[in-house]
Amino acid sequence: MQTIYYDLRDTKGQQKTIEDKICAAAKILKEGGLVAVPTETVYGLGANGLDTDAVNRIFEAKGRPQDNPLILHVTGPQWLPRYCREIPPLAYVLARKFWPGPLTMILKRSPIVPDVTTAGLDTVAVRCPDHPVTLSIIREAGVPIAAPSANISGRPSCTTAQDVLEDMDGRIDGVVDGGACTVGVESTILDLTCDPPRLLRPGGLPLEDMERLIGHIDVDKAVTEKLAEGEKPKAPGMKYRHYAPKAPVTVVTGAPAVSAAEIARRVGASSGVICFDEYVHLFPEQEVHALGPVDDKLTQAQRLFDALRTFDESGVTEIFAQCPDNRGLGLAISNRLKKAAGFHVIEADSQRIIFGLTGCTGAGKTSALKALEALGGQVIDCDALYHRMLDENDAMRNAINEKFPGVFGKDGKLDRRKLGEEVFSKKDRLAQLDEIVFRFLVPEVEKYVTALPDGLYAIDAINLLESGLDRLCDRTVAITAPVELRVRRIMQRDQISEQYARLRVSAQKADDYYRSKCDCELTNAQDTPGEFEKAAVLFFGKLIEAVREEKRRIN
Ligand code: TXA
Ligand code: MG
Repeated sequence: MQTIYYDLRDTKGQQKTIEDKICAAAKILKEGGLVAVPTETVYGLGANGLDTDAVNRIFEAKGRPQDNPLILHVTGPQWLPRYCREIPPLAYVLARKFWPGPLTMILKRSPIVPDVTTAGLDTVAVRCPDHPVTLSIIREAGVPIAAPSANISGRPSCTTAQDVLEDMDGRIDGVVDGGACTVGVESTILDLTCDPPRLLRPGGLPLEDMERLIGHIDVDKAVTEKLAEGEKPKAPGMKYRHYAPKAPVTVVTGAPAVSAAEIARRVGASSGVICFDEYVHLFPEQEVHALGPVDDKLTQAQRLFDALRTFDESGVTEIFAQCPDNRGLGLAISNRLKKAAGFHVIEADSQRIIFGLTGCTGAGKTSALKALEALGGQVIDCDALYHRMLDENDAMRNAINEKFPGVFGKDGKLDRRKLGEEVFSKKDRLAQLDEIVFRFLVPEVEKYVTALPDGLYAIDAINLLESGLDRLCDRTVAITAPVELRVRRIMQRDQISEQYARLRVSAQKADDYYRSKCDCELTNAQDTPGEFEKAAVLFFGKLIEAVREEKRRIN
């Protein structure tokens, strides 16, 4: 069979316009053929979902087990009554908000949907993909497209038309190239035939977004755990060891800096590594695939399958993978990584909880730290470590001396005033000093933290966010307070005039900066430090519980 490639950007071939190509693809589908189509999540291998023979061809082309049902792709909620019955109002609430988009709903099936499509289940999966070309093809064909991901069964899903050709060339009638998929992981599957609804597969639509709209959702066990022999997941596809590269994969969970250090301890020369961009430098001898920046889960999702695929062409004998936390898209990314690993997971810091505290001066960081100590926490004082390093760390001292000649006296002691005068009025000089300090300080803190025993810790660092020390933390907390309160507190604490206190407050970053960059916020509007401490104890108590629960859920 010859696979026709429809390049939507090329207007010189036989089919000149995009409309021509859409009609050609729709025609193949109407005649019972197979066409791979783009969606926002991954490419789909499409056939007329109401045509038994056509759907059978999908299973043949993919080598897919017949007991694994397909998703029907439609153009909107108005198509639901054609293929589903007893549709709960919740389905329309969700569809109105999240369609077109990466949400697949499981609903009771109507008899018009053939058995092959649903693998004989009395439910059917329906979704409306967010891709204009594919929506047009469905509209033009006038039938729902049944489409699994367009990979050969067991391989990572395809996120470009080239990936599809690699797996499917010669096995299907056509591939429509709609560009690289913007989401990169498959849709979220939500079962609406039970109450509360149940998450069967985490995907491109975060669980939290749905819960915000419809309240609590149960998470199916198959999302986070390996099922026992013979145990049946509610989404049949979840039982297969999908996305597995040839070399065995080990997933390492934990705060990014901690899991990176754990992997660095374990790798050999023939290991492959999937890690966040920030840690690539730790693996100079290994083949590395950067997953994306720690804070950019969308990039991680987009690169995930590519990373898994490309290892197959190399000779690595084992693969270690860093894993994001399970918030937002992280749940889908970690689920795919863990499935690739057959749920072989190392918990780099399962019983250790680290909070990073930051905020403006006068906001109440000291009282917040006291609250954590009251809860049995131990404070990691980075400022003290920095001062020790200024005395003892020759490499750092040399680096500073090179950029700021003369700041170390004959006795080897740092002249703090001199350095201060140099950096505090000049932004670029301060940036130079920060660069040096962060470069030496962060690895020291990392080393220290990764060797800590289980327990509760708080990192106290002025530049927690700017240095990258936030990556050691399970949660970063912004301590904020109204400006007027801060001014009064600084006046009292440092015995300075109101004018000077205001000057210091206005020279600092505002609460908004910390608020937008931290995971959570603790506001100190209480009258006395004692009252704030009490509120902080309650706040951190809850946060500790949430992190513990998360570690239980992801590990
Ligand atoms: O993003 C996506 O969902 C992509 C694109 C192409 O739309 N499609 C996709 O299809 O990932 P596939 O076939 O690779 O995965 C479909 C999953 C399987 O795990 C299957 O078991 C589950 O959906 N599924 C389908 N019908 C179901 C049903 N009635 N009840 C429970 N699970 C169902
Ligand atoms: Mg698939």
